[in-house]
Amino acid sequence: MSDLGTVAWPPALIKTERLVLREPEARDRAAFIELLASPEVHTYLGGPRPRDELERKTPEVPEQWPGSFVVELGGAMIGQILLRRATGHRRPAAAGKADLGYLFLPRAWGFGYAAEACAAALGWVAGALSGEPVVLTTQTANVGSMRLAAKLGFTEVERFEAWGAEQWLGMWSPATLSD
Ligand SMILES: CC(C)(COP(=O)(O)OP(=O)(O)OC[C@H]1O[C@@H](n2cnc3c(N)ncnc32)[C@H](O)[C@@H]1OP(=O)(O)O)[C@@H](O)C(=O)NCCC(=O)NCCS
Repeated sequence: MSDLGTVAWPPALIKTERLVLREPEARDRAAFIELLASPEVHTYLGGPRPRDELERKTPEVPEQWPGSFVVELGGAMIGQILLRRATGHRRPAAAGKADLGYLFLPRAWGFGYAAEACAAALGWVAGALSGEPVVLTTQTANVGSMRLAAKLGFTEVERFEAWGAEQWLGMWSPATLSD
């Protein structure tokens, strides 16, 4: 994976009804460590990273690269949206495409925040990458993520085995919305 590279970055603040999407700042460091150390968040993502290692290695401003959005609710970070180039993707259909990822703190699950934030990020990508499709890979066992992908309008390209589990590759394009 590599960042989106050519896009103008950082973008202007993206505001939704309840949330703000923005680039990471130093004040997000503790929330990033919480997110990356959470076993619950990483159930389907290969497991969390050790907290002490994160405390030592996380830079002052974490995850600062084009395509990395902090999702903020009431002034505090509740999650991260990642838009990257799937440069090394193992499925040819996804290789080189913009790839969506999302991680939210467990206390923010179940309120529709992820759906609201991802829809806004896809709206941004539709403009920033002028009509390019977006791909998403998730384990089929990750029910919340599968529901979110469907809600956002991703449609199945294929299922495949990797990392010891069944994976779902979905694709979204701005045209899908008006079909
Ligand atoms: C995947 C993940 C982001 C989903 O979060 P989520 O909060 O369940 O997702 P949503 O934003 O779609 O909200 C879900 C629920 O909020 C409910 N909800 C409550 N209030 C709502 C509101 N005002 N508006 C919309 N939905 C609302 C909805 O009913 C919805 O439930 P449903 O899907 O059963 O209908 C979250 O589980 C997570 O961070 N997981 C760990 C990381 C991960 O696995 N990422 C995937 C790899 S890319």
